Amino acid sequence: MKSNQSNIKKAKKYLNKNYCIGVPTETVYGLAANAYIDLAVKKIFDLKKRPKNNPLIVHYNDIDSLKKDCLINDNFIKLYKKFSPGPITYVLKLKKFSKISKYVTNNQKSLAVRFPKHPLLKNLLKQLDYPLAAPSANRSSRVSAVKKNDVKDEFGNKIKYILDGGVCNIGIESTIINLIGKPTILRLGGLDVSKIQKILKLKLNLAINPKRKVAPGQSLLHYSPGIPLKMNIIKPKNDEAFIIIKKRKNKSKNYFHLSFKNDLNEAAKNLYSCLRKIKNKGYKSIAVEKIPNKGLGKAINDRLQRASMY
Ligand code: TXA
Ligand code: MG
Repeated sequence: MKSNQSNIKKAKKYLNKNYCIGVPTETVYGLAANAYIDLAVKKIFDLKKRPKNNPLIVHYNDIDSLKKDCLINDNFIKLYKKFSPGPITYVLKLKKFSKISKYVTNNQKSLAVRFPKHPLLKNLLKQLDYPLAAPSANRSSRVSAVKKNDVKDEFGNKIKYILDGGVCNIGIESTIINLIGKPTILRLGGLDVSKIQKILKLKLNLAINPKRKVAPGQSLLHYSPGIPLKMNIIKPKNDEAFIIIKKRKNKSKNYFHLSFKNDLNEAAKNLYSCLRKIKNKGYKSIAVEKIPNKGLGKAINDRLQRASMY
């Protein structure tokens, strides 16, 4: 507890000096900087080699701090009460005189916002008088980071500090919902869309027109482990890594379990570490067993499908 406090203090020190640091969230690690300062936000884009037109998510401690920057609406309030803090990101209208850096939004009039649940990050946000812009802490189009060492692998000593919050609980990015006008899902993620539909009493569509990339997380080449990946495989080749979800009696050494009990939440939590592990072991290709397309299985299949475009 004490060491957490001194780590939070360190994190705060670097952020106040406009550096980018790694921070834990319940979904994946983020690469965070002061969302109000141009110079700090620009560093995020440089480090990630992220295209300038791909806007960032801003992380807030609570609704009061958000209200300074965004206009809220009834749908937002319903979802906020039920799911925040947690793995959901809302796209809202930016207020005209908000202090958010124009680099965060690429000069657009909407802002993606999220209230992270991870206790260390919550604690840090509470102590700052600005919100944190933070994309996932990986280089552009690569697999996201779910523990401190993954962030280190991605950025080495190019970043000053990583706040160590252990392994991310959910392991897959937040679900993004656009709440400007008719609600639509922009990205599948850590919160099952059917739960959101129940609260809004609406059937939600997934925006999938790749020509109008509202969320470039929808662009096809994304979340790539850097080697070819095929889905829905029954029998892998001998030299391939095989990602499985069902329990096996005879397991070869090239088999990698996402879950031992066909549990999709556990599978989501293990997905990115599993892809990293396989890559680091030197495999040249990956085969994946069919993953049930329900609950978080939908978000897993979404990520695998993008990874398979390599
Ligand atoms: O779980 C998460 O959401 C993690 C953690 C760190 O919070 N963050 C994350 O950020 O996944 P990132 O940058 O990797 O993905 C954010 C996605 C991008 O696809 C971006 O295009 C989209 O959100 N986005 C950001 N602002 C937007 C906006 N104003 N309208 C539509 N999409 C937006
Ligand atoms: Mg990302």
